[in-house]
Amino acid sequence: MTTTGLERALNESSLRPLPATAAELLREVGAPPRLGAHLRAVHDVAWSLTDNLGRRRPDLEFDTTAVLFGAATHDIGKVVHVRELSAPGHAHEEAGRDLLLRYGIPAHLARFAGSHGSWGADAPLDDLLVSLADKVWKAARVEDLEQHVATYLGGAPWQAFMELDDLLQELAAGADERLAFQASYPIVG
Ligand SMILES: [Fe+2]
Repeated sequence: MTTTGLERALNESSLRPLPATAAELLREVGAPPRLGAHLRAVHDVAWSLTDNLGRRRPDLEFDTTAVLFGAATHDIGKVVHVRELSAPGHAHEEAGRDLLLRYGIPAHLARFAGSHGSWGADAPLDDLLVSLADKVWKAARVEDLEQHVATYLGGAPWQAFMELDDLLQELAAGADERLAFQASYPIVG
């Protein structure tokens, strides 16, 4: 059922709107407003991240549509595990992927809900970008995650890392505003 709080979270602010399919799903599952706001914030960062990376490095292969859908739905499992909206936990990850599959989302788009909380050196770039957006939105910096992404950039490791660092600093600068936006929506709505 649609709630006013969720509608506000999906529509207010200058953050970019979620992909229509993702917004529709959030309405269908009755997502808490706080979750809707979080997904807006992470999706907005993923948008800037893929846009910047794509312009700086047109040779780099990633699926922007998949990354943006992943960012817009990665925490949907918190509809089932609401406690994880305010406390750490990983139960929402598999639950989120299963929920998306149940709603007919193809596996290659549903997978981000399951993969965003862990990252290995062998993780696909698309998955790493969703995980990265889920950190940088609040200005959190995670060295091993950033190193895995830098590996995809190729060239001298230090240079790739510096190139990425530049971009992430720019994105992290908007964190206070995004944190305030998210915090202004209730967990129960
Ligand atoms: Fe998240």
